[in-house]
Amino acid sequence: MPALNSKPTTPEEEDLLFRLLRQLDVASDASQRAIASALGVSLGRMNAQLRAATEAGLVKITQRDGPDKRQRFDYAITTRGAAEQIRLRDKFLTRKFAEYDALHAELTGTTSGLEPFKHRTKIMQNNLAPIPELYVSYDSAQKLKVEAADLTSHDLTPRQICDLELLMNGGFNPLKGFMSEKDYDGVVENMRLADGALWPMPITLDVSEDYASSVEVGQDIALRDQEGVILATMTITDKWEPNKALEAEKVFGADDDAHPAVNYLHNTAGKIYLGGPITGIQQPVHYDFRARRDTPNEMRAFFRKMGWRKVVAFQTRNPLHRAHQELTFRAAKEAQANLLIHPIVGMTKPGDVDHFTRVRCYEAVLDKYPQSTTTMSLLNLAMRMAGPREAVWHGLIRANHGCTHFIVGRDHAGPGKNSAGEDFYGPYDAQELYRANQSEIGCEMVDFKHMVWVQERAQYEAIDEIEDKDDITILNISGTELRRRLAEGLEIPEWFSFPEVVKELRKTKPPRSQQGFTVFFTGFSGSGKSTIANALMVKLMEMGGRPVTLLDGDIVRKNLSSELGFSKEHRDLNIRRIGYVASEITKNGGIAICAPIAPYATTRRAVREDVEAFGAFIEIHVATSIEECEKRDRKGLYKLAREGKIKEFTGISDPYDVPLNAELVVETENVEVDNCAHQVILKLESMGLIAAQ
Ligand code: PPS
Repeated sequence: MPALNSKPTTPEEEDLLFRLLRQLDVASDASQRAIASALGVSLGRMNAQLRAATEAGLVKITQRDGPDKRQRFDYAITTRGAAEQIRLRDKFLTRKFAEYDALHAELTGTTSGLEPFKHRTKIMQNNLAPIPELYVSYDSAQKLKVEAADLTSHDLTPRQICDLELLMNGGFNPLKGFMSEKDYDGVVENMRLADGALWPMPITLDVSEDYASSVEVGQDIALRDQEGVILATMTITDKWEPNKALEAEKVFGADDDAHPAVNYLHNTAGKIYLGGPITGIQQPVHYDFRARRDTPNEMRAFFRKMGWRKVVAFQTRNPLHRAHQELTFRAAKEAQANLLIHPIVGMTKPGDVDHFTRVRCYEAVLDKYPQSTTTMSLLNLAMRMAGPREAVWHGLIRANHGCTHFIVGRDHAGPGKNSAGEDFYGPYDAQELYRANQSEIGCEMVDFKHMVWVQERAQYEAIDEIEDKDDITILNISGTELRRRLAEGLEIPEWFSFPEVVKELRKTKPPRSQQGFTVFFTGFSGSGKSTIANALMVKLMEMGGRPVTLLDGDIVRKNLSSELGFSKEHRDLNIRRIGYVASEITKNGGIAICAPIAPYATTRRAVREDVEAFGAFIEIHVATSIEECEKRDRKGLYKLAREGKIKEFTGISDPYDVPLNAELVVETENVEVDNCAHQVILKLESMGLIAAQ
């Protein structure tokens, strides 16, 4: 009989503790006798184990009122207990596999052929069996929620919420939490977790230095969504400052801020990473398209129910048109498999069509597939646009969702051009990396065929299969051309897309001359920003059509930012507020004219991204030299700055990053204000934002 211990040291003790924790997790209100019998041990032994687990902080016992003497106590696993249960479950399974193998050998003289249980097993590669999740039972979750309310909290960012959802529901299996430093180092260096399993993407909990210094390794913290709901707890096992430049180079291929994930890494993510196992309490709440959101296990259950043994997944962050419908249908036919349209609705590339519109478009396309061959489910993934590594990651996620095949296209999850104007990755890098790792991913790659419309035969064909190219007319509309047609309200032919899809897109993307936009002036104090902005506002109001709002530096500082000074932190906050208001105005079809100094390039870029999610962003550098501004010194501030009476004065004692990619540079020396404003009008006209008069 194994000895009792609060910290199990033998496999038997671990088994017993695991089974006790699991039992309390699923049936915490059972009587002691029932628990003992479920564990197959005597009442006395069960009680001793329960005491040991309570002393170790894994279980909490409370008195319960009620007539039934046998149910005088209520047992609940604690946050610690839940984490321990998840840890012990893997060890438990490993042992059971080994035992089974040994038994098989004893009975038959041969091994069972089952792979030893590591993280990824044959069972998981089978698309029908359930995969492990990190959630505790509903009852335990209710109790843990109360307990976790006393823990130090971390408010998750939108990206962390996406990551957490997939960690908890098994989409990121075999990860058991946010990565430890060792796992992170392995993943960054060679796409391997510390135990050798393939995993290409760092999944890290980034926090600010201030927050990091308020918590310690060994501490449990509560992870909350943006409304304060506790989604999970995490036991911090690691805390470190990552080498972000190295992460950028290794994971994204270049330490270049033109890459959206590198930009996020340097300018949005916190400086310190925390790692540790997660105990899942509840899924993040989604109010939209609930029926179309499935966990990996729900997806697997669906495939089981439908008898789908082979499933091809199609990943997308764009609306589907006829060519996509043809290629996905063909891919499924070739693999003799069913099809899962698996679009991303978490975070995609800034500037993409919003997911509400896309899902309405997908619904329309779904009707075009033969019935019961195809289904659609929404994946709340935060994409990183990491090309080759992203493709491998997407494959692992699809394998976890029970898919057996995955379509990888040209330039899969490509982030666009780098700051030198070149592609970050080669067009087939993703396919190559995927192919090299395919057996470990557990999801076979299906080539993406480039489909084109053959006018004479009025059908789609794969371009590399057409033999009579010289005798036929091949039609194709690129993404850029489609955006142009939508922006200018031009015709989109039926051979290209389904009328229902075009109708949805036109609703959200009216012609540019009816969309909202933001004009963002930047330049030194006294450069003439406000004057030109005022003139521009009047000209736009004279034209009519859209409401115009002026967010001048001084007005904003009076009404929105009166408590702020001129430190970098305060200036950034001020500009982010302006950006937020401008993006709301743009989203709602208005024109926002902003005229702050906005001295920092990274902050201007962040505002650009906020706005471009909804409409055009036109950055205008009012390039009056500092000498000229000082000479004009309309407000007498330069004099005071020179005398040291105003500190941190832009251009005198504080930096100004000259814009490198402004849509327009306006010189004001010897040029009339009216002329400067007119240059802006001409720019807007050339961009199609105002209809020619
Ligand atoms: S920022 O950096 O974009 O947040 O600045 P902004 O909100 O546009 O505010 C700039 C106006 O505040 C006055 N002012 C200063 N400017 C720069 N540096 C220092 N230290 C400073 N202190 C006060 C100045 O009048 C600016 O007005 P404008 O309209 O730009 O001339």
